[in-house]
Amino acid sequence: MSVIDRPKANTGSSDMSVSGAADEAFAKDVLAGLSKPQKELPCRWFYDRRGSELFEQITDLPEYYPTRTEAEILNACVDELREIVGPGVALVEYGAGAAVKTRILLDALDTPAFYAPIDISAEFLQAVAANLAQDYPAIKMRPIVGNFLSEVEVPGDLLTAGRRLGFFPGSTIGNLSDHEITSFLTRARRQLGDDGMLVVGADLRKSPDILIPAYDDAAGVTADFNKNLLVRINRELDGGFDLEQFRHQAVWNDVDSRIEMHLVSERSQSVDVLGRSFDFAAGETIHTENSRKFSILALQALADTCGWRALRSWEDPSKLFSVLLFG
Ligand code: AVJ
Repeated sequence: MSVIDRPKANTGSSDMSVSGAADEAFAKDVLAGLSKPQKELPCRWFYDRRGSELFEQITDLPEYYPTRTEAEILNACVDELREIVGPGVALVEYGAGAAVKTRILLDALDTPAFYAPIDISAEFLQAVAANLAQDYPAIKMRPIVGNFLSEVEVPGDLLTAGRRLGFFPGSTIGNLSDHEITSFLTRARRQLGDDGMLVVGADLRKSPDILIPAYDDAAGVTADFNKNLLVRINRELDGGFDLEQFRHQAVWNDVDSRIEMHLVSERSQSVDVLGRSFDFAAGETIHTENSRKFSILALQALADTCGWRALRSWEDPSKLFSVLLFG
């Protein structure tokens, strides 16, 4: 996988986009999250430089099926997709840098006219666009700096070009709440237009026997990924987390159909962050991520309420993952 592969951080900063505003947003989220009865930290803060590296490693783990399964489905369905979406599309990617998957589309589509990745980090976008421009000289690069969960402006020449095709891979949609999904899909419909289409990668419901190892791997990479959040707080927010005193936990929440990642306090302790003290009981957790597992019909029904028709969906033979097309 390419070094610039990276999941979609909804908001927030990478090391390449550190700004005063991002630091402040991180501090605010951490202080607020640790003050709740169920302590929580938003998963978007996982992706500093080290966190992005660890996520890369996760995508190569034998237990972590989503990345390779999605790529396999895309490879298998892309000829059909080309016939459906037609020539000269403007590909709008929500979040930048799923390089392997983006290339599968750009390689197979019929003379795509534009590639417009939306990402919070200008530097990251620049690197992605420069990298792709070399291999796809005929495709006009239109990187859009912004948070795709809030309003972003689509460049004018995209609006007058051919069909706009949105691309939201990686089951990043699984990190969002119902409300966030609804507002994202509604906004995407507006941005992509009435004849626009949208490709979404979504992880599917399945046995916890598969899910738990995918989020609690034998090599301990996901544990390091989760605990890196505490490393980051220690470094950036003058935190006092003792990494030996917190343990990674992945739990399957069947009611909400999601894997939850937590950090469990091994004992009763208090931890300082930015001069404030936070108490932990033994066994108390910080909830760090939701990774929702969808039923195809439920996701299609949700999209329907946002102005999208379900056109197709493709799955791998084991029905682990789905690539859905809306129009
Ligand atoms: C990048 C959100 C798709 O939920 O599977 C991987 C993040 N967390 N292992 C996922 C993740 C733990 C990943 N997404």
